[in-house]
Amino acid sequence: MKKILDLITEELSGAFAASGYDASYGRVNLSNRPDLCEYQCNGAMAAAKAYKKAPIQIAEDVVGHLKDSATFSMVEAVKPGFINMKLNCEFLICYLNQMSAEKDLGFEKTAHPKTIVLDYGGPNVAKPLHVGHLRSAIIGESIKRIGRFVGHNMIGDVHLGDWGLQMGLIITELKKRRPELVYFDPSYTGEYPAEPPFTIHELEEIYPAASARSKEDAAYKEEAMEATYQLQHGNQGYIALWNHILNVSVSDLKKNYEKLNVTFDLWKKESDAQPYIPDMVQYMKDNGYAHISDGALVVDVKEDGDTREIPPCMILKSDGASLYNTTDLATIVERMKLFHPDEILYIVDKRQDLYFTQVFRCAKKTKLVEEDTKLTFLGFGTMNGRDGKPFKTREGGVMRLEDLIGDINNQMFKKISENRNTAEDIDARETARIIGLSAIKYGDLSNQASKDYVFDVERFTSFEGDTGPYILYTIVRIKSILKKYAAQGGTLENLTIKEPSNESEKNLMLSLTGFIHAIETAYAEHAPHKICAYIYELANAFNSFYHETKILGEEDQAKKEGMLALLLLTRNVLETCINLLGFEAPERM
Ligand code: ARG
Repeated sequence: MKKILDLITEELSGAFAASGYDASYGRVNLSNRPDLCEYQCNGAMAAAKAYKKAPIQIAEDVVGHLKDSATFSMVEAVKPGFINMKLNCEFLICYLNQMSAEKDLGFEKTAHPKTIVLDYGGPNVAKPLHVGHLRSAIIGESIKRIGRFVGHNMIGDVHLGDWGLQMGLIITELKKRRPELVYFDPSYTGEYPAEPPFTIHELEEIYPAASARSKEDAAYKEEAMEATYQLQHGNQGYIALWNHILNVSVSDLKKNYEKLNVTFDLWKKESDAQPYIPDMVQYMKDNGYAHISDGALVVDVKEDGDTREIPPCMILKSDGASLYNTTDLATIVERMKLFHPDEILYIVDKRQDLYFTQVFRCAKKTKLVEEDTKLTFLGFGTMNGRDGKPFKTREGGVMRLEDLIGDINNQMFKKISENRNTAEDIDARETARIIGLSAIKYGDLSNQASKDYVFDVERFTSFEGDTGPYILYTIVRIKSILKKYAAQGGTLENLTIKEPSNESEKNLMLSLTGFIHAIETAYAEHAPHKICAYIYELANAFNSFYHETKILGEEDQAKKEGMLALLLLTRNVLETCINLLGFEAPERM
């Protein structure tokens, strides 16, 4: 289906042309004076210059050609030259009934599907997920779902950090604590045990301990570096340990992402890119892209017109070791080979902006990607506490994601239990989990991704205002009316939307027509917050309608059915949108 704004613009463009003006002046916008009109066109003002006429005269000419239009109930020319419009209800109803009948609520999939690799999540093995990882997962998941809805082939990759010193640190610490383990016996040639020698909890304690110790103890760090080197150069015991570390971490990570309703198509790891490095480095040398500077191998990436200093991209350190960006470049090589994407989109902390500028320029310059392959960095801001500093636990430590989710769920459980007679029932737990997730995700996604924001538990969990729970509350309210109607013997099949009976009902209808526009802009701008803004407006429009109108109490059956059809469409639009944001609504609250 076409966007309603496009339909009206076509109508206006036709009228401009029929009046002897260029059709391009017919662009229509949503009115910024809803008290006066629903839509407006300012084209007469722009046309006035070109045609050397008073804008009001042009506006009047155009309006003259719209007098008999079935699209509007009102069109008027207003000084100095605005054209103000209100939609004819018949036209509006027809549009909404079509939306209700069509697949995807009338949203047509793109005619040019692209393959887009989405790099998000980015957790590191053996380190617990903390709130810093939350944004990448939440934003990435939503962008993936929006892209799929639009019709693109979105491939989500978690890009697990499993390479580098962190592995050597764990191995070293483990060796100190349990030197008797067979993994540390160089003369051992048999099979290694299938069971890991540690649990996830031990692992999560070992890593920070090792990391802290390496900062104070130079010899210890030296040992960890040596272990890393050995792991990367074929030490069988270490490789077996590394596999255990991976398995234990990955199953724990999967469990945590599942709690967030976040899934990945690929569980690729930094280590998977390592085999591509030698050929890539050779290629960069052979083609004269890379040169030696202070012993290191680098590629210059600064460009004329840079307003900030962009240092060279370092490919190999002077000791021959590869770096974080070597891995990222090799990952690009691998992704090109496996998926040949039109675009790779990275959803990473915005503090890595300069880093990705270097990596992207290097990949383009050295032709690891094609000229028209898009490399996009979507940097997100920091999640702060109410004190404006990065979100911490009450004790000031790093907040683990699991704990944050647990806290919010408990709070929600308390809240909803107040309205229920059974204090502890399974259903309330599950409902609290669903609402809690909406609080976290909507709280995050309703902010423009690049901005820092304050994670305000109090506000995010409120059932009122611009929050996830408010949206869910609205959906549940609609569902319960529909259920009541069905329980009274009514059927919800084949209902059609009819003439609105009051202003608030028409407002709700107008709000529903904005669906396609909201999805399109959210996709084009990588902006889930546009969907949040849209559903907040829609939920408000619904609730005003609800408070002003008798629905089930309506005596005129045809009218009642029309309203129920409108409720069904509202629920479907809201549920489709929250699904794109990555959460769902419960049956009751
Ligand atoms: N693991 C990284 C970190 O914790 C994030 C990875 C982001 N993705 C990438 N391709 N570099 O900082």
